[in-house]
Amino acid sequence: MSDSSKDKPTPSPSPANEPLENLEEWEDFLKFRYTEEDLEDGIDTHKDREDYRNYEDPSRDSVKEFYRLNHQHQTFDFVKKKKEEYLKLDKEEMSTWDAIELLNTLIDDSDPDNDLPQIIHLLQSAEAVRAKGHPDWFILTGLIHDLGKLLCHFGEPQWAVVGDTFPVGCAFSDKIVYPEYFEANADSQNEQYQTDLGIYEEGCGLDNVQLSWGHDEYMYHVVKDYLPEPALYMIRYHSFYPCHTEGAYQHLMNDHDREMFKWVRAFNPFDLYSKCPVAPKVSELKSYYQGLIDKYLPSKLCF
Ligand SMILES: [Fe+2]
Ligand SMILES: [Fe+2]
Repeated sequence: MSDSSKDKPTPSPSPANEPLENLEEWEDFLKFRYTEEDLEDGIDTHKDREDYRNYEDPSRDSVKEFYRLNHQHQTFDFVKKKKEEYLKLDKEEMSTWDAIELLNTLIDDSDPDNDLPQIIHLLQSAEAVRAKGHPDWFILTGLIHDLGKLLCHFGEPQWAVVGDTFPVGCAFSDKIVYPEYFEANADSQNEQYQTDLGIYEEGCGLDNVQLSWGHDEYMYHVVKDYLPEPALYMIRYHSFYPCHTEGAYQHLMNDHDREMFKWVRAFNPFDLYSKCPVAPKVSELKSYYQGLIDKYLPSKLCF
């Protein structure tokens, strides 16, 4: 970790903003929602898919509360404001491995599926990609795809870091989880945003569309100069479930997006279903992954 990050206390958002016991609760909820065969690739065989459906009601309630906040506060103006605040990437510089370790200390993972820390989720995703014989940049993508969660380190509440993403500036799709909570979103009163296209043009391409703010978009900007385009799509849109899994917002995509979304969908099972009780040994894997980091990324990333 860089010296500056060692000295800096991590700001903590108010508890009222943090309904999830940990950020992974949201991803466990996703596993409950998405169990279709089309996510077959990359599933680990240690665990039956049905086992992932084991949810207690209290955690569901916290996911609901999380989405209530998310849907209320993710407005077009909020997204613009966060982009101005973060996309200058002037908060902190650190090596990729230090960023992974910092994320690990930040997020106390008490995931019911797997009480292993965040670094293990990253290594398991990457190792699952590697086991399938995919190219090295795809493996590296598995390793770094969630590093945007360092937004928590900069004091952002959960609802501005994780959760399914969706476009702002146009009508909210009813394919988004808990669509009823958009009633409390100020954009629901803005006439300009009430049609399927809203402020956008048909087929304008997702690069021209503002998505709700979170770890995907942030991390995309951190690494956009260094990785092949399919990797960047995976990082930028891996939480865009309303589109990549529910099929919403096709009218905003262009043909290139549709082509690249094959990669986004190919990545998804490695993210959701690669968790298994046998934790990869960090010490044994570190030098291999450091080699991938050195091949593609600069010695320090700007956050
Ligand atoms: Fe993620
Ligand atoms: Fe992930």
